[in-house]
Amino acid sequence: MMMSLDMNLHVLTKELSVYLENQVRVGGFLGSGVGLALALGFGAAYACYYWTSIAKKPKLVSGGKKFYEFLKENCPVVTETYYPPFWCWESRVQTLLRPFVTSKPWVCYRNELIRAPDGGQISLDWFDNEESLSHPDTSTRPTVLLLPGLTGTSRESYILHMVQQSRELGYSMMLANYLGRKGNATCLKGVVVFSAGWDVFECTASLEKPLDRFLFNAYLTSCLQASVHRHRPVLERNYDIDHVMKAKTIREFDERFTSKMFGYPTNDDYYRDASPIYKLKSVQVPMLCLNAADDVFSPSHAIPVEAVKQNPNLALLITCHGGHIGFLEGLWPRHSTYMDRVFRQFVKAVIENGSVLTNLTS
Ligand SMILES: *[C@@H]1O[C@H](CO)[C@@H](O)[C@H](O)[C@H]1NC(C)=O
Ligand SMILES: *[C@@H]1O[C@H](CO)[C@@H](O)[C@H](O)[C@H]1NC(C)=O
Repeated sequence: MMMSLDMNLHVLTKELSVYLENQVRVGGFLGSGVGLALALGFGAAYACYYWTSIAKKPKLVSGGKKFYEFLKENCPVVTETYYPPFWCWESRVQTLLRPFVTSKPWVCYRNELIRAPDGGQISLDWFDNEESLSHPDTSTRPTVLLLPGLTGTSRESYILHMVQQSRELGYSMMLANYLGRKGNATCLKGVVVFSAGWDVFECTASLEKPLDRFLFNAYLTSCLQASVHRHRPVLERNYDIDHVMKAKTIREFDERFTSKMFGYPTNDDYYRDASPIYKLKSVQVPMLCLNAADDVFSPSHAIPVEAVKQNPNLALLITCHGGHIGFLEGLWPRHSTYMDRVFRQFVKAVIENGSVLTNLTS
């Protein structure tokens, strides 16, 4: 079978080279004409495919007319077509390439360590933005709080880009690697969430499919294990660390470590509690969520469109492409992504015009 395929290929390439030779002999001009026509044909077909199937307007849903109109008026990005790079629109490719394609702006943080009453520690990285022109007074300068995702830190390039955006807007930034879940959120004026995993059961199931297990799950598991390894001498007293280090997936890691550490009777109890989808009813600050329909970390069938429609404080922006924290945009997306634009416009709108968003529920 292999042999005959090989032979066929051989014959084919031979025929092709004879064909090309003839073309060249007939006249270099005609030869390159055929090549050019082929290239143009492919190009036109691809462009057609791109315009009809790849470049699309995002879908915006909200539980309240007021919030919906506010977004349309103050954040034009929510109504604009999202153009992923024509050479890199596929979900996994975007997700994997984004850290390499985008630049890493230089940012210098001031760290603050806070001891929690339960013995825990909260590490805050501040970007004070003393050079702010629009808000020179520290006491009234708006503060933007950023929380990186799983295994993320204040050094992730997507975080650095958001710091950069806020620096330009004149705001200061606070980055917390851990915040109490029951913190009083009433001081927040607005929230924007990117590529949230809505239902942890669905997210882990999606990441256990063969290709995604190979591309993402194993890597994330090793990052989680590395953070356990750093504190091994302390953790060893209470957990079977050898067993934890042998986990092959995030779910196995959570079963053996995370759920136990946070005192859940089972891993399913932990996953239920960690799934924002069950808490959307109680959100009381204006919250915009951006998800890509092709995100393998947060499968589209688990995006809570109906739940969002039930709460006037919520809005959901769904793009067809973008992957997980990908959202690369334009020809060569080095400095700003679609996500950065959503962030910038929303933060600016909430800080400047957010007063109209009070009492959305009433
Ligand atoms: C705030 O509202 C005013 C008046 O509607 C508008 O001109 C301005 O562009 C808005 N600001 C932002 C950041 O959207
Ligand atoms: C916490 O939130 C409640 C309303 O839910 C509010 O009455 C109270 O003042 C808040 N506490 C602080 C410290 O902000």
